Amino acid sequence: MATRLKALPFSFGAHFLALIAAIMVLVWSIHFRGGLAWEAENKNLIFNIHPVLMLIGFIILGGEAIISYKSFPLEKQVKKKIHLVLHAIALILGIIGICAAFKNHNESNIPNLYSLHSWIGIGVITLYGIQWIYGFVVFFYLEVVLKSDAIHFPGMCFWECLYMSWLLAMRV
Ligand code: HEM
Ligand code: HEM
Repeated sequence: MATRLKALPFSFGAHFLALIAAIMVLVWSIHFRGGLAWEAENKNLIFNIHPVLMLIGFIILGGEAIISYKSFPLEKQVKKKIHLVLHAIALILGIIGICAAFKNHNESNIPNLYSLHSWIGIGVITLYGIQWIYGFVVFFYLEVVLKSDAIHFPGMCFWECLYMSWLLAMRV
């Protein structure tokens, strides 16, 4: 017999793991690697912004945006706005985090984009930006702003989830 489980209690486990990961990356970069800075003589401090923003900004906030439909006991339209805004913040912080890696390379005379990590990273942030624009247009602008009943794509969420699982796997 199939059992239906509520997702909300499980989301607390995800929040908890995210908090532990955020604390660990902050301790690593601030305590063990000297701290964070956008302008500094010690270029490692500029680099340190990269893992902090990629993890806390891009992965954790992006993850929170994904589970927001399940982790907030709110109305659908409110959760949609939370989903949209959290994804936007994740995208912006991800872009700033990548800029920090480029800035560190440029100021340390290290070539850019020499690793598989960096090329996959560029692909991931680009696809994420495209996904955000797509979600904004289809699920917010057309549906919410124009209030068009004609815009309903059955199966769209399935493809969004499939695409997102692939994106998440690439990120990790
Ligand atoms: C989704 C998360 C991440 C993305 C999208 C990403 C993306 C990038 C990109 C595009 C670069 C190239 C910068 C350049 O060529 O100037 C880069 C460099 C680098 N990243 Fe990340 N990064 C992510 C997470 C991390 C994390 C968590 C760490 C470390 C703990 C890290 C460590 C590095 C290192 C060491 C470099 C310099 C060496 C290299 O280019 O491979 N990255 N990253
Ligand atoms: C990078 C950006 C985005 C990613 C990665 C993403 C990812 C996802 C994922 C994984 C789901 C499934 C969530 C669940 O079933 O609980 C989802 C659902 C959804 N997303 Fe997005 N999304 C993005 C941007 C947007 C934007 C900008 C909007 C505009 C409001 C949006 C609207 C929706 C809607 C309406 C659903 C369906 C919720 C439901 O009916 O259960 N998404 N999204």
